[in-house]
Amino acid sequence: MFLWGSSTSAFQIEGDINNDFTSWERGGNFSTGSYQNYNNGINHWEMWREDFDLLKEMGHNAYRFSIEWSRIQPFPGVYLEEPLRQYEEMIDYLLSLGIEPLLTLHHFTHPEWFHEYSPWDKIESVTAFTNFARKIIERFSGKVRYWISFNEPVVWALGAYGDAKFPPGIKDLTKMMRVIENILTAHSLVYDILKSYREDAQLGIAKHFTVFRESRSWFFPDRKIRDLIHYFFNVMLLEAFRENRLQINFPQMVKYDSKIKLDNKIDFWGINYYYRLHTKFRLSFKNPFQLYHQNPATDSGWEIYPKGLKKIIRHVAGYGKDIIITENGIATLDEEQRKKFLRKHLRVIRRQKEKGIKLKGYFYWSLLDNYEWLHGYSKKFGLVSVDHNDGYRREVKAGGLYYAKLIKKYTINDFKKNKTKET
Ligand code: BGC
Repeated sequence: MFLWGSSTSAFQIEGDINNDFTSWERGGNFSTGSYQNYNNGINHWEMWREDFDLLKEMGHNAYRFSIEWSRIQPFPGVYLEEPLRQYEEMIDYLLSLGIEPLLTLHHFTHPEWFHEYSPWDKIESVTAFTNFARKIIERFSGKVRYWISFNEPVVWALGAYGDAKFPPGIKDLTKMMRVIENILTAHSLVYDILKSYREDAQLGIAKHFTVFRESRSWFFPDRKIRDLIHYFFNVMLLEAFRENRLQINFPQMVKYDSKIKLDNKIDFWGINYYYRLHTKFRLSFKNPFQLYHQNPATDSGWEIYPKGLKKIIRHVAGYGKDIIITENGIATLDEEQRKKFLRKHLRVIRRQKEKGIKLKGYFYWSLLDNYEWLHGYSKKFGLVSVDHNDGYRREVKAGGLYYAKLIKKYTINDFKKNKTKET
């Protein structure tokens, strides 16, 4: 069965959370431009039943969400039963609705105490995370078959140790690479733990993929930057799993080469795909590599480029694993634009599936308008709107109803095709 769903992450929706992002915010680090404070998220921790009913209403048969680590383990060694019980109720409710849960263990946030280890820079952080992961797996692997260890590890590491926009806000690219290595080590340990509890469980990483194009095709430096950045974002991790070696050579910036025993321990690659970027070389000592959106069309200023999804799917398929589109979406107030976005990207999905690519699911980002990190609540990715002035009232948008229609259409077509195959 093809998984049709939408995605969220705990911190971006739940509310009532104290973690490294809320203290980072309290420290004034996010107060820029249109940014609004986190406050209470969008109160999903209270309203989850109602939200899950909307999944059903929109014809989803799957849902991707994450567990907020700081809620479960507010102090080292202290695991709270109450939130675990609520997550269990949530999973049970999804299952009772016929909705397959896809559970993410790490989506950008940490308990504050985790920063004692200078997050992910030290091997102790690997142990701390895998202890937490074991607790969750022990509790939920009987009910949850599809798991994601990490959401966008490269994006997080870049935010935390590259451009310093995420806590701990350090600029050190060698450290960033070590952090990525430690995260991958944690992934492989989580893989072993999960399989020891449930053999048929499926574990993946939700990886951010971007298509890059040189600004001037006649200009070698633009093409060179394209290749370097493509390797860093789209290739480095996939190769690490296959070659047991994590390496990057970005002249003037970072060089790293380390053996890492991953042994291809990953069941599927999650693709988070949003846009294409253009690369340009500039004569600037401070920032010679320019990345920009041509024809920005969404409220995030991103280009819409459905063909890129095809390119990425075919690129990832070359590594032989199953593929799930774990995020794909648009920030817009224009529902006609959201519909068109969905129509075009789902057409790519259908064609690639027909061509025999091992595509197992599609998850739109996001179920609800939510907290969009550095942009507060200003970017509306949701299939469902949230009224912050009226008790967080939810309303399914035209895009949400349209997605439901497409799911139905594609599921019926699939069903017919399978029937013809059988006869
Ligand atoms: C992240 C989400 C984020 C989305 C839209 C992804 O990079 O996983 O948390 O909200 O993109 O920017």
